[in-house]
Amino acid sequence: MTDLAVDLGFLKLKNPVLTASGTFGYGVEFLPFLDLNKLGGIVVKGLYFHPRPGNPPPRLVETPSGLINAIGLQGIGVERFSEEILPRLKDYDTAIIVNVCGDDEEEYAAVAEYLDKREGIAAYELNISCPNTKRDGRCPALNADTTHAVVKLVKATSKRPVITKLSPNVTEITEIALAAQEAGTDGLAVANTFLAMAIDVETRRPKLANILGGLSGPAIKPLTLRMVYQVAQQVQIPIIGIGGITKAHDALEYMIAGASAVEVGTANFVDPGVTEKIILDLDLYCRQNSIPRIAQIIGTLRI
Ligand SMILES: Cc1cc2nc3c(=O)[nH]c(=O)nc-3n(C[C@H](O)[C@H](O)[C@H](O)COP(=O)(O)O)c2cc1C
Repeated sequence: MTDLAVDLGFLKLKNPVLTASGTFGYGVEFLPFLDLNKLGGIVVKGLYFHPRPGNPPPRLVETPSGLINAIGLQGIGVERFSEEILPRLKDYDTAIIVNVCGDDEEEYAAVAEYLDKREGIAAYELNISCPNTKRDGRCPALNADTTHAVVKLVKATSKRPVITKLSPNVTEITEIALAAQEAGTDGLAVANTFLAMAIDVETRRPKLANILGGLSGPAIKPLTLRMVYQVAQQVQIPIIGIGGITKAHDALEYMIAGASAVEVGTANFVDPGVTEKIILDLDLYCRQNSIPRIAQIIGTLRI
């Protein structure tokens, strides 16, 4: 057996495979499909302070090798999450990471402060990069100053480690990554979905009620992989790679590019047990290649 553990410094994971926010519910919905104890971690659906209905339908469109979503961060809010979900997740030996949302800096801080009082959370992932809560796709992660401001406030007011989830919808992602690092983030998640759209040519209407949405799935993998590589050259903090992972080899590409761990998103909709298979195949790859500890492959790209 390979040692699949990875150490993010602020958090030790039993293996590098986590589920991506918004594609795995609050974790408990997937109990019929896989053993949550097998996962490195679960990033739960984004939480604002209060419950939110999200955007009106239609909210999902399939594209070649991809999915455009405009869910608009529907969620149950911190109180119901703490009362109904967290007590159930505590039974599982896996890292629970809460994806934190906010309409402004203060709301991000308020969500984290509320959850600080609850046990069973390993870290916060700051979702400053959702492209479908506003009609124009804007979010804090499009700008270095707003990224800095949100991270700085949450780091100053909350006690848990913070992972900042970046947007791919920028010209120079390394500038935003450096701003988040400078503001004190403990790690980076690279990245959220790509701003996208689809049109019905019969009606000439957008296929999504929100007009714009975020593209995910295999179509984006080469793009986010490139971003993980670029960010890894610049920062000194751990990176979690996200985008289009469907199999162990995708996860390995991200790790070789510099990611310490990965999140699997859209693939959970195709096969709800996919993460368990990826973990098994990572072990197989390491054994076949005489790698005793998977952490040894992080950032080992040969140029
Ligand atoms: C239906 C759906 C809902 C999502 N909801 C969230 C969310 O609540 N918070 C967040 O940070 N990212 C959210 N995402 C983005 C994913 O976490 C992930 O970053 C993105 O889908 C890319 O990974 P993938 O190609 O493996 O799906 C969502 C993605 C999808 C498809």
